[in-house]
Amino acid sequence: MMIEKVKEAVLKVADEDEWKFHLSLVVKYAKHLAKIEKVNMEIVELAALLHDIGRIKFGGKDHEITGVPEAEKILKRLDYSDEIIEEVKHCIESHRAGVNRPAKTKIAEIIRDADAISHFDIIPILIQIGLKKYDGDIRKAVKLVHKKIDRDWNNKMHLPESKRLVEEKYKAAKLLLETTEKCF
Ligand SMILES: [Fe+2]
Ligand SMILES: [Fe+2]
Repeated sequence: MMIEKVKEAVLKVADEDEWKFHLSLVVKYAKHLAKIEKVNMEIVELAALLHDIGRIKFGGKDHEITGVPEAEKILKRLDYSDEIIEEVKHCIESHRAGVNRPAKTKIAEIIRDADAISHFDIIPILIQIGLKKYDGDIRKAVKLVHKKIDRDWNNKMHLPESKRLVEEKYKAAKLLLETTEKCF
């Protein structure tokens, strides 16, 4: 299957943790939302697999832009139609919910939402990422994660099913982070 080829191309550059802790979750939640929203499952899966290809290859900065030509290259090589390629490119450029690049299609909304939903399954890993970023400063790491989950909840999850899926985890994570912040 062609999707398997795309997955192979992504796994060539992504390490195992990237797959286990992020990409596989985004694929899972995006497919769940796609079923509910009744959109093209193949495009959703392609976009979920490729949405962070820019970050994986070149780092986080502007990866919603750097990922676009990378995804295009992979999909062109596998002979995907222009229509599919355009939709996937739009999903990549809009997945960070930046003000200049809002999601304009249902599939792009699904990818943006699934990206945010996935974070709530890996809160301890987000803390670890924060610790690395701030040289082991736990106060800064906790604040960063708190800000991140608030941003995900407020700015990124717009489909009703997304909030429903995450609500319990969001409240639990927020309670734990706020409780910890009171000790700082
Ligand atoms: Fe991303
Ligand atoms: Fe992502």
